[in-house]
Amino acid sequence: MTIHIGAQPGDIAETVLLPGDPYRAKWAAETFLSDVRLVNEVRGMLGFTGTWNGHPVTIQGSGMGMPSLSIYVNELIKDYDAKTLIRIGSCGGMQDSVAVRDVILAMSASTITSPSHGIFRELNFAPCADWSLLRAAVQAAEAKGTRTHVGGIYSSDVFYDERPDLNEQMVRHGILGVEMEAAELYILAARYGRRALAVLTVSDHLITGEALPSDQRETSFGDMVEIALNAAFT
Ligand code: HPA
Repeated sequence: MTIHIGAQPGDIAETVLLPGDPYRAKWAAETFLSDVRLVNEVRGMLGFTGTWNGHPVTIQGSGMGMPSLSIYVNELIKDYDAKTLIRIGSCGGMQDSVAVRDVILAMSASTITSPSHGIFRELNFAPCADWSLLRAAVQAAEAKGTRTHVGGIYSSDVFYDERPDLNEQMVRHGILGVEMEAAELYILAARYGRRALAVLTVSDHLITGEALPSDQRETSFGDMVEIALNAAFT
């Protein structure tokens, strides 16, 4: 047990999928895993462990934003020895070529700041995905026929952003989408020598204003979970 995770040692698999929303963790575990058991409910941040094609998998909510994700990922790595960590979440589309329901595989994640800013200070570290996971996710997405984009994303610290000029610069520099967690996940994976990837579904679009209706979110979310699971075990 850790401060934020009630699981016993051995309850957490080496492969962990991390949706922001704990109820998405429940849905994904019940939909895609076998022999599912609840392993964490501290603060309602649900975590489940089961198997996928015989492989042990944990699906643990990370909460919203990098400070929350940092707590769970630090404990998953340092106390439970998680080795492969894949964020499964939503993002806002930032390019005309990206449509709602498309999947984005985040090759890199730009930030203004993250919980690791205190140690990097004047350094601009470039958080990037694990290549073996990214390559396997591309192959899985192609095999499924999912409309997929691979490139840079923006991990913002705010959902209600009062600085539209920052988004404009991100768009101008080809950033595909905005979310709030991946950069710190990539930084922690780099620090501790683990594999990380963010697989994202475009749920809304900053340029077109389009948003995925709630009844269609589940199906799109399912494609993303399957891509993540296939990538983890390729
Ligand atoms: N901004 C930040 N995070 C997000 C968004 C967004 O527009 N959509 C989904 N996650």
